[in-house]
Amino acid sequence: MTIIIAIDGPAAAGKGTLARRLAAELGFDYLDTGLIYRAVGMTITRDGGDPADAALAEAAALALEPTALNAPDLRGDTAAQAASKVAAIPGVRAALLEFQRRFASHPPGGRGAVLDGRDIGTVVCPAADTKLFVTASAEKRAERRLKELQEKGEKAIYGTVLADMQERDERDRNRSVAPLVPASDAVVLDTSDLDADQAFAAALDIVRPRR
Ligand code: DC
Repeated sequence: MTIIIAIDGPAAAGKGTLARRLAAELGFDYLDTGLIYRAVGMTITRDGGDPADAALAEAAALALEPTALNAPDLRGDTAAQAASKVAAIPGVRAALLEFQRRFASHPPGGRGAVLDGRDIGTVVCPAADTKLFVTASAEKRAERRLKELQEKGEKAIYGTVLADMQERDERDRNRSVAPLVPASDAVVLDTSDLDADQAFAAALDIVRPRR
């Protein structure tokens, strides 16, 4: 049996960094499920379509090739907003479920899998061995995101970053299907006052005794 670690939480809470480090430390494979929704959203946006169009989005999700996850334009805010829109469409989520579950149960390296997203502990892998819900205040998350953008040399304003993030959080939390909520058996890790190393140490303390 392979081990599954589910990491959920809102945008820019530090889940990606944490998930990647945990996977490296434990010798597990890592799947960033947000990237899948971003790839679906950008497939439509690049063609000039509306990512909130259910028929278009479902067709794009069903036709998604794994190579689409390597596209260079998936990390930006256009992709984030498009992802959040396609992610609210039930048919899109259903189309992407099997791929995520297969990765979790048959990770390429055969030892274990770390998946991060919004609904891993609640929907994709409800029987995961460990569930972490990584969160932080909206202000702290916006500050981190702003710093990241500035380090990349992009111009950004704190108020705009915060507003974009709150808009996305709101949509992710209030959608009818697989909304962003901690699983009842998830351990909540608030990283508001932790740096990346402290968050990693806290996550390891949670994961290790459960393995
Ligand atoms: O984690 P991220 O910022 O790359 O995710 C982009 C969007 O995709 C996010 O706003 C909501 C959606 N998403 C989701 O609904 N379910 C997941 N498991 C992962 C992401």
